Amino acid sequence: MTKVQNVAVLGAGTMGHSLAQVFAQGGCNVWLSDLQEGILQKAKKMIASNLKTLVDLDLLEANQPPVILDRIQTTTKIETAGKEAQFVIEAIIEDIAAKKEMFSALDRICPPEAILASNTSFLDIFKFVETKRPDKVLITHWFAPPHLVPLVEVVRGPLTSEESIDTVKAFLTRLGKKPIVIAKFLPGFIANRLQGALRVEAHFLLDNGYATPEDIDVASKASFGLRIPILGLMKREDYAGLDTVQRNLNNRMYNPPEARGSSKTLDRLIEKGKLGVKTGSGFYDYHGKTAEELMRERDIKLIKLREFLRELGELP
Ligand SMILES: NC(=O)c1ccc[n+]([C@@H]2O[C@H](COP(=O)([O-])OP(=O)(O)OC[C@H]3O[C@@H](n4cnc5c(N)ncnc54)[C@H](O)[C@@H]3O)[C@@H](O)[C@H]2O)c1
Repeated sequence: MTKVQNVAVLGAGTMGHSLAQVFAQGGCNVWLSDLQEGILQKAKKMIASNLKTLVDLDLLEANQPPVILDRIQTTTKIETAGKEAQFVIEAIIEDIAAKKEMFSALDRICPPEAILASNTSFLDIFKFVETKRPDKVLITHWFAPPHLVPLVEVVRGPLTSEESIDTVKAFLTRLGKKPIVIAKFLPGFIANRLQGALRVEAHFLLDNGYATPEDIDVASKASFGLRIPILGLMKREDYAGLDTVQRNLNNRMYNPPEARGSSKTLDRLIEKGKLGVKTGSGFYDYHGKTAEELMRERDIKLIKLREFLRELGELP
């Protein structure tokens, strides 16, 4: 099995910059690539700021950020990024034509033994990506922000080899991540499907005037949300008693709402330019705090919670 040391990350946006950080923190040599130099400079600044947060919380030695940053080289040339890579992940826009072209280029440029991964959330890349190494093509689906969230869904294509899956699983585990392997492509994989089901219900409650955004957040955080980190969804059913679960499933008084593909509450907010933290308000008003400040506050809480769950043995 290959021990991965050289990594290339294509796309330095929301996901790409943080992915580069994960690999560099794990000791890898990383090439981070995007279309413009300005995007790469911004990505490096964001990584530096993420690392500073870890130092501030005593989770990283103060002398480590420059060492980690030195492991990340940036380029706008995909040829430079890919030519020595053993593991490549593309985190470019979610667009079939762009991803198809990216994989063809990577296949041409990268060493034949390199594994090529996509971070796609919903695209069945196995249907349209064409390479001479289908046994080394797979999906690794990370969660934002990848340097803080442990789960990586590894999705097998029809021709992906067992060896590629094993190499990637071992690599992700070495990086402190929690890989789970999904046997075949399904849009949304596991975690986004579960989140998607909750989103449909939340917007049904909002649109029909049953609950405010605050009610929904209190209800989810102060009830099942508290149990999920300890039990997950399925072990919780064991605790509830499977006969009780069966009765609940049989109870047709509850029927999930139809997924309508839109939400009038959401549409109204968007019309007013309220897009969430990036515009200073969305369902909530953030009272003049910048997106960076809000993200940093969120990250600090996420890190503290993750460390606590690690202490409890619930996370790697
Ligand atoms: N944002 C999330 O929460 C999230 C979570 C899991 C998976 N994903 C997936 O990850 C991928 C990236 O998402 P994102 O949110 O980081 O997007 P983003 O828009 O923040 O970043 C994409 C970056 O890719 C760059 N890019 C576009 N075409 C390129 C090319 N040909 N070569 C190099 N760079 C190119 C863009 O300039 C941009 O900087 C998508 O497939 C998305 O579905 C996103």
